[in-house]
Amino acid sequence: MTIWIPDLTEYAGPRYKALATAIALGIDAGELIAQQKLPPQRQLADALGVTLGTVTRGYAEAERRGLVSARVGSGTYVNEKGAKVRDEFLIPDPREGFIDLTVSLPVRLGQQALLAETLGELQHDPDTLAHMLEYHPDGGFEHHRQVIAKWISYGNFASPPDSITLCNGGQHAIQLALIAACRPGDTILAEGLAYPGLKSIARQLSLKVIPIPMDEQGILLDSIADLCRQYNPRLIYCTPTQHNPTNVQMTLQRRRQLISVANECQLLIIEDDVSASLVQNRPEPLASMAPERVFYISSCSKGLAGGLRVGFLVSPQAYRDRAASALRASCWMAPPLMVEIACRWIQQGAATQLLAKQREALQVRFALVSDIFRSLDFSARADSFFVWLVLPEHWRASAFVKAAEEKKVLITAAESFAVGNYPAPQAVRICISAAKDLASLEEGLRMIQQLALSEVDEKIETF
Ligand SMILES: Cc1ncc(COP(=O)(O)O)c(C=O)c1O
Repeated sequence: MTIWIPDLTEYAGPRYKALATAIALGIDAGELIAQQKLPPQRQLADALGVTLGTVTRGYAEAERRGLVSARVGSGTYVNEKGAKVRDEFLIPDPREGFIDLTVSLPVRLGQQALLAETLGELQHDPDTLAHMLEYHPDGGFEHHRQVIAKWISYGNFASPPDSITLCNGGQHAIQLALIAACRPGDTILAEGLAYPGLKSIARQLSLKVIPIPMDEQGILLDSIADLCRQYNPRLIYCTPTQHNPTNVQMTLQRRRQLISVANECQLLIIEDDVSASLVQNRPEPLASMAPERVFYISSCSKGLAGGLRVGFLVSPQAYRDRAASALRASCWMAPPLMVEIACRWIQQGAATQLLAKQREALQVRFALVSDIFRSLDFSARADSFFVWLVLPEHWRASAFVKAAEEKKVLITAAESFAVGNYPAPQAVRICISAAKDLASLEEGLRMIQQLALSEVDEKIETF
Protein backbone atom coordinates (compact mmCIF):
# COMPACT_ATOMS: atom_id res chain seq x y z
CA MET A 1 0.00 0.00 0.00
CA THR A 2 1.39 3.47 -0.85
CA ILE A 3 1.62 5.91 2.01
CA TRP A 4 0.68 9.58 1.91
CA ILE A 5 3.89 11.61 1.55
CA PRO A 6 3.46 15.39 1.24
CA ASP A 7 5.93 17.63 -0.57
CA LEU A 8 7.17 19.94 2.21
CA THR A 9 9.44 21.93 -0.09
CA GLU A 10 6.37 23.98 -1.04
CA TYR A 11 6.03 25.41 2.46
CA ALA A 12 8.22 27.94 4.27
CA GLY A 13 8.86 28.04 8.03
CA PRO A 14 9.60 25.32 10.58
CA ARG A 15 9.24 21.80 9.11
CA TYR A 16 6.76 20.59 11.72
CA LYS A 17 4.42 23.49 10.94
CA ALA A 18 4.88 22.79 7.24
CA LEU A 19 3.79 19.21 7.88
CA ALA A 20 0.68 20.35 9.79
CA THR A 21 -0.15 22.73 6.93
CA ALA A 22 0.38 19.94 4.39
CA ILE A 23 -2.05 17.78 6.38
CA ALA A 24 -4.62 20.62 6.35
CA LEU A 25 -4.25 21.09 2.61
CA GLY A 26 -4.26 17.32 2.05
CA ILE A 27 -7.62 17.14 3.81
CA ASP A 28 -8.98 20.06 1.79
CA ALA A 29 -7.82 18.44 -1.44
CA GLY A 30 -9.42 15.09 -0.52
CA GLU A 31 -6.02 13.32 -0.43
CA LEU A 32 -6.68 12.55 3.22
CA ILE A 33 -10.16 11.52 4.26
CA ALA A 34 -11.94 11.33 7.63
CA GLN A 35 -10.82 8.40 9.79
CA GLN A 36 -7.82 7.71 7.54
CA LYS A 37 -4.74 6.70 9.48
CA LEU A 38 -1.70 8.94 8.93
CA PRO A 39 1.55 7.18 8.03
CA PRO A 40 3.61 5.76 10.90
CA GLN A 41 5.81 8.55 12.15
CA ARG A 42 9.16 6.89 11.61
CA GLN A 43 8.25 5.84 8.10
CA LEU A 44 7.14 9.37 7.19
CA ALA A 45 10.26 10.86 8.78
CA ASP A 46 12.44 8.60 6.60
CA ALA A 47 10.43 9.40 3.50
CA LEU A 48 10.63 13.16 4.11
CA GLY A 49 14.25 13.15 5.26
CA VAL A 50 13.37 14.85 8.56
CA THR A 51 13.78 13.73 12.15
CA LEU A 52 11.23 11.64 13.96
CA GLY A 53 10.78 14.58 16.39
CA THR A 54 9.73 16.83 13.49
CA VAL A 55 7.00 14.43 12.45
CA THR A 56 5.90 13.98 16.08
CA ARG A 57 5.60 17.76 16.46
CA GLY A 58 3.91 18.09 13.08
CA TYR A 59 1.24 15.57 14.09
CA ALA A 60 0.85 17.27 17.47
CA GLU A 61 0.45 20.65 15.73
CA ALA A 62 -2.14 19.15 13.37
CA GLU A 63 -3.94 17.79 16.42
CA ARG A 64 -3.83 21.20 18.06
CA ARG A 65 -5.43 22.63 14.90
CA GLY A 66 -8.23 20.06 15.24
CA LEU A 67 -7.28 18.21 12.04
CA VAL A 68 -6.32 14.83 13.46
CA SER A 69 -6.50 12.84 16.70
CA ALA A 70 -3.91 10.50 18.18
CA ARG A 71 -5.37 7.25 19.50
CA VAL A 72 -3.47 5.46 22.22
CA GLY A 73 -1.73 2.35 20.96
CA SER A 74 -3.09 2.75 17.45
CA GLY A 75 -1.86 5.82 15.56
CA THR A 76 -3.02 9.24 14.36
CA TYR A 77 -6.26 9.57 12.40
CA VAL A 78 -7.85 12.30 10.29
CA ASN A 79 -10.81 13.95 12.05
CA GLU A 80 -14.26 14.39 10.61
CA LYS A 81 -14.49 17.82 8.92
CA GLY A 82 -15.51 20.57 11.31
CA ALA A 83 -14.33 18.62 14.36
CA LYS A 84 -14.03 21.00 17.28
CA VAL A 85 -10.66 22.76 17.65
CA ARG A 86 -9.51 22.46 21.21
CA ASP A 87 -8.71 25.79 22.93
CA GLU A 88 -6.34 24.94 25.77
CA PHE A 89 -7.46 27.99 27.66
CA LEU A 90 -11.14 27.13 27.90
CA ILE A 91 -12.28 25.39 31.06
CA PRO A 92 -14.82 22.73 30.04
CA ASP A 93 -17.79 21.77 32.21
CA PRO A 94 -16.91 19.33 34.99
CA ARG A 95 -16.99 15.74 33.75
CA GLU A 96 -18.87 13.34 35.96
CA GLY A 97 -16.68 10.52 37.26
CA PHE A 98 -13.37 12.16 36.20
CA ILE A 99 -10.55 13.32 38.48
CA ASP A 100 -9.83 16.71 36.95
CA LEU A 101 -6.27 17.91 37.60
CA THR A 102 -6.15 20.52 34.84
CA VAL A 103 -6.99 23.80 36.57
CA SER A 104 -4.62 25.67 38.83
CA LEU A 105 -6.86 26.82 41.68
CA PRO A 106 -6.64 27.04 45.46
CA VAL A 107 -7.52 24.02 47.57
CA ARG A 108 -11.17 24.25 48.65
CA LEU A 109 -10.99 25.06 52.34
CA GLY A 110 -14.55 26.08 53.07
CA GLN A 111 -14.02 29.69 51.91
CA GLN A 112 -17.82 29.88 51.56
CA ALA A 113 -18.21 30.07 55.37
CA LEU A 114 -16.02 33.16 55.38
CA LEU A 115 -18.00 34.64 52.53
CA ALA A 116 -21.27 34.01 54.39
CA GLU A 117 -19.84 35.79 57.44
CA THR A 118 -18.75 38.81 55.41
CA LEU A 119 -22.07 39.05 53.58
CA GLY A 120 -23.77 38.89 57.00
CA GLU A 121 -21.69 41.83 58.22
CA LEU A 122 -22.43 43.82 55.08
CA GLN A 123 -26.13 43.24 55.51
CA HIS A 124 -25.95 45.43 58.61
CA ASP A 125 -23.86 48.14 56.99
CA PRO A 126 -26.20 50.08 54.67
CA ASP A 127 -23.74 52.96 54.13
CA THR A 128 -21.08 50.64 52.76
CA LEU A 129 -23.66 48.80 50.67
CA ALA A 130 -24.84 52.09 49.16
CA HIS A 131 -21.23 53.03 48.46
CA MET A 132 -20.66 49.68 46.72
CA LEU A 133 -23.43 50.53 44.28
CA GLU A 134 -21.64 53.67 43.06
CA TYR A 135 -19.37 53.91 40.05
CA HIS A 136 -15.67 53.74 40.94
CA PRO A 137 -13.26 56.53 40.15
CA ASP A 138 -10.47 55.41 37.76
CA GLY A 139 -8.72 52.31 39.03
CA GLY A 140 -10.93 51.81 42.12
CA PHE A 141 -11.94 53.49 45.38
CA GLU A 142 -9.04 55.14 47.23
CA HIS A 143 -9.67 53.14 50.41
CA HIS A 144 -9.62 49.83 48.50
CA ARG A 145 -6.41 50.76 46.74
CA GLN A 146 -4.77 51.65 50.05
CA VAL A 147 -5.65 48.25 51.51
CA ILE A 148 -4.41 46.46 48.40
CA ALA A 149 -1.21 48.52 48.20
CA LYS A 150 -0.32 47.36 51.71
CA TRP A 151 -1.34 43.77 51.00
CA ILE A 152 0.87 43.38 47.94
CA SER A 153 3.86 45.22 49.38
CA TYR A 154 6.78 42.89 49.99
CA GLY A 155 10.35 43.62 51.17
CA ASN A 156 11.42 46.75 49.30
CA PHE A 157 8.40 46.56 47.04
CA ALA A 158 5.84 49.17 47.98
CA SER A 159 3.47 50.41 45.30
CA PRO A 160 1.70 53.75 45.82
CA PRO A 161 -2.12 53.33 45.81
CA ASP A 162 -2.43 55.54 42.73
CA SER A 163 -0.27 53.13 40.71
CA ILE A 164 -2.86 50.37 41.22
CA THR A 165 -5.73 49.52 38.89
CA LEU A 166 -8.27 47.21 40.51
CA CYS A 167 -9.61 44.76 37.95
CA ASN A 168 -11.29 41.39 37.41
CA GLY A 169 -8.46 38.99 38.23
CA GLY A 170 -4.91 38.41 37.06
CA GLN A 171 -6.04 37.50 33.55
CA HIS A 172 -7.72 40.87 33.17
CA ALA A 173 -4.65 42.62 34.60
CA ILE A 174 -2.45 41.00 31.92
CA GLN A 175 -4.90 42.14 29.27
CA LEU A 176 -4.89 45.72 30.59
CA ALA A 177 -1.08 45.82 30.72
CA LEU A 178 -0.80 44.54 27.14
CA ILE A 179 -3.37 47.05 25.89
CA ALA A 180 -1.61 49.87 27.76
CA ALA A 181 1.86 48.96 26.44
CA CYS A 182 1.31 47.54 22.96
CA ARG A 183 -0.37 48.19 19.64
CA PRO A 184 -1.85 45.50 17.38
CA GLY A 185 0.92 43.87 15.36
CA ASP A 186 3.58 44.42 18.05
CA THR A 187 5.85 41.62 19.14
CA ILE A 188 6.37 40.54 22.75
CA LEU A 189 8.74 38.02 24.32
CA ALA A 190 7.68 35.35 26.81
CA GLU A 191 9.12 32.28 28.49
CA GLY A 192 9.16 29.39 26.01
CA LEU A 193 6.59 27.63 28.16
CA ALA A 194 4.03 30.14 29.41
CA TYR A 195 0.64 30.42 31.04
CA PRO A 196 -1.88 29.73 28.19
CA GLY A 197 -3.94 32.78 29.18
CA LEU A 198 -1.10 34.98 27.92
CA LYS A 199 -1.15 33.27 24.51
CA SER A 200 -4.91 33.63 24.35
CA ILE A 201 -4.90 37.39 25.01
CA ALA A 202 -1.98 37.97 22.67
CA ARG A 203 -3.90 36.21 19.89
CA GLN A 204 -6.95 38.38 20.51
CA LEU A 205 -4.88 41.58 20.58
CA SER A 206 -2.98 40.55 17.41
CA LEU A 207 0.37 40.45 19.20
CA LYS A 208 3.11 38.10 18.10
CA VAL A 209 4.73 36.14 20.95
CA ILE A 210 8.33 34.99 20.57
CA PRO A 211 9.66 32.37 23.01
CA ILE A 212 12.74 32.86 25.20
CA PRO A 213 14.50 29.66 26.30
CA MET A 214 14.55 28.87 30.04
CA ASP A 215 16.68 26.91 32.46
CA GLU A 216 16.14 26.00 36.10
CA GLN A 217 16.73 29.63 37.17
CA GLY A 218 14.24 31.20 34.78
CA ILE A 219 14.58 33.04 31.47
CA LEU A 220 17.94 32.63 29.69
CA LEU A 221 19.16 36.15 29.12
CA ASP A 222 21.78 35.50 26.42
CA SER A 223 19.29 35.35 23.60
CA ILE A 224 17.34 38.50 24.47
CA ALA A 225 19.58 41.06 22.75
CA ASP A 226 19.49 38.98 19.54
CA LEU A 227 15.71 38.60 19.74
CA CYS A 228 15.44 42.37 20.19
CA ARG A 229 17.52 43.02 17.08
CA GLN A 230 15.49 40.51 15.11
CA TYR A 231 11.94 41.31 16.30
CA ASN A 232 12.03 44.70 18.03
CA PRO A 233 9.69 43.53 20.83
CA ARG A 234 7.81 45.91 23.14
CA LEU A 235 8.11 43.87 26.31
CA ILE A 236 8.84 40.63 28.11
CA TYR A 237 6.08 38.73 29.90
CA CYS A 238 7.38 36.46 32.66
CA THR A 239 6.35 34.64 35.84
CA PRO A 240 9.50 34.82 37.95
CA THR A 241 8.19 33.58 41.29
CA GLN A 242 6.32 30.40 40.59
CA HIS A 243 6.51 29.66 36.95
CA ASN A 244 3.43 28.05 35.49
CA PRO A 245 3.84 25.20 34.43
CA THR A 246 7.41 24.25 35.51
CA ASN A 247 7.59 25.58 39.10
CA VAL A 248 10.90 27.30 38.29
CA GLN A 249 11.71 30.25 40.54
CA MET A 250 13.89 32.98 39.05
CA THR A 251 16.86 33.65 41.31
CA LEU A 252 17.58 37.13 42.67
CA GLN A 253 20.72 37.34 40.59
CA ARG A 254 18.84 36.42 37.39
CA ARG A 255 16.18 39.02 38.26
CA ARG A 256 18.83 41.74 38.55
CA GLN A 257 20.42 40.65 35.28
CA LEU A 258 17.04 40.65 33.57
CA ILE A 259 16.46 44.23 34.67
CA SER A 260 19.81 45.33 33.26
CA VAL A 261 19.10 43.57 29.95
CA ALA A 262 15.65 45.24 29.86
CA ASN A 263 17.31 48.60 30.50
CA GLU A 264 19.85 48.05 27.73
CA CYS A 265 17.22 46.88 25.25
CA GLN A 266 14.59 49.45 26.34
CA LEU A 267 12.08 46.70 27.09
CA LEU A 268 9.08 46.90 29.37
CA ILE A 269 8.32 43.87 31.56
CA ILE A 270 5.06 42.30 32.67
CA GLU A 271 5.78 40.48 35.93
CA ASP A 272 3.00 37.96 36.57
CA ASP A 273 3.08 37.33 40.31
CA VAL A 274 -0.40 35.85 40.84
CA SER A 275 0.79 32.95 42.97
CA ALA A 276 3.43 34.84 44.92
CA SER A 277 1.31 35.38 48.04
CA LEU A 278 1.66 31.66 48.77
CA VAL A 279 5.43 31.66 48.50
CA GLN A 280 7.35 32.53 51.63
CA ASN A 281 10.85 34.05 51.46
CA ARG A 282 10.51 34.72 47.78
CA PRO A 283 13.05 36.93 46.00
CA GLU A 284 12.34 40.62 45.55
CA PRO A 285 9.86 41.38 42.75
CA LEU A 286 11.20 42.85 39.50
CA ALA A 287 8.75 45.71 40.02
CA SER A 288 10.66 46.96 43.05
CA MET A 289 13.92 46.98 41.05
CA ALA A 290 12.57 48.98 38.11
CA PRO A 291 9.10 50.42 38.81
CA GLU A 292 9.34 52.63 35.71
CA ARG A 293 9.70 49.55 33.50
CA VAL A 294 7.60 46.84 35.13
CA PHE A 295 3.87 46.15 35.11
CA TYR A 296 3.17 44.04 38.19
CA ILE A 297 0.25 41.58 38.15
CA SER A 298 -1.34 40.16 41.28
CA SER A 299 -4.67 38.61 42.18
CA CYS A 300 -6.81 37.14 44.97
CA SER A 301 -7.50 34.05 42.87
CA LYS A 302 -4.64 31.85 44.02
CA GLY A 303 -4.41 32.59 47.72
CA LEU A 304 -8.09 33.24 48.51
CA ALA A 305 -10.65 32.21 45.87
CA GLY A 306 -10.75 32.40 42.06
CA GLY A 307 -14.44 33.27 41.96
CA LEU A 308 -13.84 36.60 43.72
CA ARG A 309 -12.40 37.82 40.40
CA VAL A 310 -10.35 40.52 42.09
CA GLY A 311 -7.00 41.36 40.56
CA PHE A 312 -4.50 44.19 40.69
CA LEU A 313 -2.31 45.83 38.11
CA VAL A 314 0.54 48.09 39.25
CA SER A 315 1.62 50.21 36.27
CA PRO A 316 4.68 52.35 35.64
CA GLN A 317 3.79 56.04 36.04
CA ALA A 318 3.88 56.70 32.28
CA TYR A 319 1.25 54.01 31.60
CA ARG A 320 -1.28 54.60 34.38
CA ASP A 321 -3.75 56.57 32.30
CA ARG A 322 -3.61 54.03 29.52
CA ALA A 323 -4.27 51.21 31.99
CA ALA A 324 -7.23 53.17 33.39
CA SER A 325 -8.62 53.71 29.86
CA ALA A 326 -8.20 50.03 29.08
CA LEU A 327 -10.16 49.20 32.24
CA ARG A 328 -12.96 51.59 31.32
CA ALA A 329 -13.10 50.28 27.77
CA SER A 330 -13.20 46.63 28.82
CA CYS A 331 -15.60 46.56 31.78
CA TRP A 332 -15.69 50.06 33.30
CA MET A 333 -14.56 48.76 36.70
CA ALA A 334 -14.09 45.73 38.92
CA PRO A 335 -17.33 45.15 40.90
CA PRO A 336 -16.78 47.22 44.09
CA LEU A 337 -18.64 44.67 46.23
CA MET A 338 -16.16 41.93 45.37
CA VAL A 339 -13.22 44.23 46.08
CA GLU A 340 -14.85 45.21 49.38
CA ILE A 341 -15.14 41.54 50.36
CA ALA A 342 -11.48 40.93 49.52
CA CYS A 343 -10.43 44.06 51.44
CA ARG A 344 -12.42 42.99 54.51
CA TRP A 345 -10.75 39.58 54.46
CA ILE A 346 -7.38 41.32 54.24
CA GLN A 347 -8.07 43.88 56.96
CA GLN A 348 -9.62 41.41 59.38
CA GLY A 349 -6.71 38.97 59.07
CA ALA A 350 -8.87 36.26 57.46
CA ALA A 351 -6.83 36.45 54.24
CA THR A 352 -3.59 35.79 56.12
CA GLN A 353 -5.22 32.83 57.89
CA LEU A 354 -6.54 31.48 54.58
CA LEU A 355 -3.05 31.72 53.08
CA ALA A 356 -1.59 29.82 56.02
CA LYS A 357 -4.23 27.09 55.68
CA GLN A 358 -3.68 26.97 51.93
CA ARG A 359 0.05 26.44 52.48
CA GLU A 360 -0.66 23.66 54.98
CA ALA A 361 -3.03 21.92 52.57
CA LEU A 362 -0.51 22.21 49.74
CA GLN A 363 2.23 20.82 51.97
CA VAL A 364 0.15 17.69 52.61
CA ARG A 365 -0.53 17.26 48.90
CA PHE A 366 3.15 17.84 48.11
CA ALA A 367 4.11 15.05 50.55
CA LEU A 368 1.70 12.71 48.79
CA VAL A 369 3.19 13.53 45.38
CA SER A 370 6.75 13.14 46.64
CA ASP A 371 5.88 9.68 47.92
CA ILE A 372 3.88 8.39 44.95
CA PHE A 373 6.14 9.89 42.27
CA ARG A 374 9.43 9.00 44.01
CA SER A 375 10.70 6.96 41.07
CA LEU A 376 9.70 9.59 38.46
CA ASP A 377 11.33 12.78 37.19
CA PHE A 378 9.16 15.60 38.50
CA SER A 379 9.37 19.13 39.79
CA ALA A 380 7.10 20.23 42.64
CA ARG A 381 7.14 22.73 45.49
CA ALA A 382 5.49 22.61 48.88
CA ASP A 383 3.75 25.92 48.07
CA SER A 384 2.67 25.20 44.50
CA PHE A 385 -0.64 24.11 42.99
CA PHE A 386 0.94 21.90 40.37
CA VAL A 387 3.54 19.29 39.60
CA TRP A 388 5.57 19.21 36.40
CA LEU A 389 6.13 15.61 35.42
CA VAL A 390 8.80 14.86 32.81
CA LEU A 391 7.69 11.65 31.16
CA PRO A 392 9.83 8.55 30.72
CA GLU A 393 11.38 8.44 27.25
CA HIS A 394 8.85 6.13 25.65
CA TRP A 395 5.94 8.54 26.20
CA ARG A 396 4.73 11.40 24.04
CA ALA A 397 2.91 13.94 26.20
CA SER A 398 -0.23 14.10 24.03
CA ALA A 399 -0.54 10.29 24.05
CA PHE A 400 0.02 10.24 27.81
CA VAL A 401 -2.73 12.81 28.39
CA LYS A 402 -5.10 10.76 26.23
CA ALA A 403 -4.21 7.54 28.02
CA ALA A 404 -4.81 9.24 31.38
CA GLU A 405 -8.15 10.54 30.12
CA GLU A 406 -9.15 7.02 29.17
CA LYS A 407 -8.51 6.14 32.80
CA LYS A 408 -10.64 9.13 33.84
CA VAL A 409 -7.83 11.42 35.00
CA LEU A 410 -7.46 14.80 33.30
CA ILE A 411 -4.07 16.53 33.04
CA THR A 412 -2.39 18.98 30.63
CA ALA A 413 0.38 18.31 28.08
CA ALA A 414 3.40 20.64 27.83
CA GLU A 415 2.33 21.53 24.29
CA SER A 416 -0.51 23.65 25.70
CA PHE A 417 2.06 25.96 27.27
CA ALA A 418 4.52 26.14 24.36
CA VAL A 419 4.91 29.62 22.90
CA GLY A 420 5.33 29.93 19.11
CA ASN A 421 7.68 27.28 17.80
CA TYR A 422 9.26 26.52 21.19
CA PRO A 423 9.91 22.78 21.41
CA ALA A 424 7.59 21.44 24.08
CA PRO A 425 9.23 18.76 26.22
CA GLN A 426 7.46 15.43 26.74
CA ALA A 427 6.04 16.54 30.08
CA VAL A 428 2.66 17.18 31.69
CA ARG A 429 1.29 19.58 34.30
CA ILE A 430 -0.76 18.01 37.09
CA CYS A 431 -2.72 20.41 39.30
CA ILE A 432 -2.71 18.75 42.69
CA SER A 433 -4.76 21.51 44.31
CA ALA A 434 -7.67 20.87 41.96
CA ALA A 435 -8.60 17.42 43.32
CA LYS A 436 -11.69 17.70 45.49
CA ASP A 437 -10.10 15.74 48.34
CA LEU A 438 -6.97 13.80 49.25
CA ALA A 439 -8.50 10.43 48.39
CA SER A 440 -9.25 11.40 44.80
CA LEU A 441 -5.84 13.06 44.48
CA GLU A 442 -4.16 9.86 45.64
CA GLU A 443 -6.21 7.80 43.19
CA GLY A 444 -5.30 10.15 40.32
CA LEU A 445 -1.60 10.27 41.19
CA ARG A 446 -1.34 6.49 41.51
CA MET A 447 -2.97 6.04 38.15
CA ILE A 448 -0.54 8.56 36.57
CA GLN A 449 2.44 6.88 38.20
CA GLN A 450 1.40 3.44 36.95
CA LEU A 451 0.75 4.76 33.47
CA ALA A 452 4.14 6.49 33.32
CA LEU A 453 5.93 3.29 34.24
CA SER A 454 3.76 0.94 32.22
CA GLU A 455 5.13 -1.23 29.43
CA VAL A 456 6.63 0.58 26.47
CA ASP A 457 4.96 -1.32 23.66
CA GLU A 458 1.47 -0.41 24.84
CA LYS A 459 1.72 3.17 23.72
CA ILE A 460 4.73 3.96 21.52
CA GLU A 461 3.26 5.92 18.63
CA THR A 462 5.78 5.38 15.88
CA PHE A 463 4.21 2.33 14.26
C1 LIG B 1 0.46 32.57 35.76
C2 LIG B 1 -0.99 32.97 35.82
N1 LIG B 1 -1.32 34.24 35.58
C3 LIG B 1 -2.59 34.66 35.63
C4 LIG B 1 -3.61 33.79 35.94
C5 LIG B 1 -5.02 34.29 35.97
O1 LIG B 1 -5.39 34.56 37.29
P1 LIG B 1 -6.87 35.03 37.66
O2 LIG B 1 -7.65 33.80 37.99
O3 LIG B 1 -6.69 35.94 38.81
O4 LIG B 1 -7.42 35.74 36.47
C6 LIG B 1 -3.31 32.45 36.20
C7 LIG B 1 -4.38 31.48 36.48
O5 LIG B 1 -4.19 30.30 36.54
C8 LIG B 1 -1.97 32.02 36.14
O6 LIG B 1 -1.62 30.76 36.39
